[in-house]
Amino acid sequence: MSRDHPIIVGNWKMNKSLEEAKSFVEGLVPKLEESDVVLLAVPFTLIKPSVDASAGSVLKIGAQNMNDASKGAFTGEVAALMLKEVGASFVLLGHSERRKYFGESNEFIHKKLLRAFKDRIDPILCIGETLDEREKGHTEGVLDSQLAEALEGVKNLRKLKIAYEPVWAIGTGETATPDIAQEAHHFIRQWLNGKYGEEVSSKLLLLYGGSVTEETCKTLLGEEDIDGLLIGGASLSLDSFVKIVHDSRYAKRDVS
Ligand code: PGA
Repeated sequence: MSRDHPIIVGNWKMNKSLEEAKSFVEGLVPKLEESDVVLLAVPFTLIKPSVDASAGSVLKIGAQNMNDASKGAFTGEVAALMLKEVGASFVLLGHSERRKYFGESNEFIHKKLLRAFKDRIDPILCIGETLDEREKGHTEGVLDSQLAEALEGVKNLRKLKIAYEPVWAIGTGETATPDIAQEAHHFIRQWLNGKYGEEVSSKLLLLYGGSVTEETCKTLLGEEDIDGLLIGGASLSLDSFVKIVHDSRYAKRDVS
C-alpha cells in the first residue's frame, strides 16, 4: 500500500447479521477494481464469513479490537492469532469508542500495538481529541500524548497506519472541514517526522475518520496529508460505501 492510492476502511462497529454481512460483501466485491485498497473492520463473528465471501478479491477483512496477551485466562477477549486464523489481516486499535466506553488507556493500546507487531496483524491506530479538548486548544497536546504513549519504545512502525478521528466528529454528522483535518494530519506527520525521520513519515498512511459521507469523501482526500478514510455510518449502506470507493478513485492526490 502506498500513499498514491487512497485507502478506504469501513468500520461496521456492532452492526449487521450474518446474512446482511454476506450480502454486503457479495455486493461489494464485483464493484471493486484491482487497484482499489478497501478494508472492512467487522464484528468478530462476521470475520470468517466476510473473508469467505471476499475470497480472491482485493477486499481485506479485519477486526475492531483485540487483546494484548497471546492467550490465557481473559474471559471475553480475543487474541491476535485467533483473528489471523480466521483470516483477519488488520485490526483497529484505540478507537475512541473503546477508549470512552471500555476505559482503554494509552498504555493498554500501546501493549496491544506491540502484540499486533509481534503477531503480525496490521494495526490501524486511532487517535483524536474530544470537543472539550479542542475548545480548550489542547488538540495538539492530546495527539502528542496519544502518539507518544502508544508508540513508546517502538523503533519500527512496520505496516502501521494511523487514523485521526476527532471524537466530536464521530457519529455526529459533523465532519471536520478539510482544513481542520489537514491541519491535524500535518501535525501527526510532522510528529512522526521528528521521531522516525522523513523516510518513514512521508510513507506512512494517515486516515481521517468522523462522519465521512459520499458528499465529503472527495474533498477530504484532496488534502495533502489525508491518505485514506475510516468510515463508520456510511459503511453500513452498500450503495454509500460503493459510491465512496468509486469517488475516491478520482480524488485529487498530490503526494510529493
Ligand atoms: P462515523 O464513524 O463515520 O459514523 O462517524 C467513524 C468511526 O468511528 O470510525
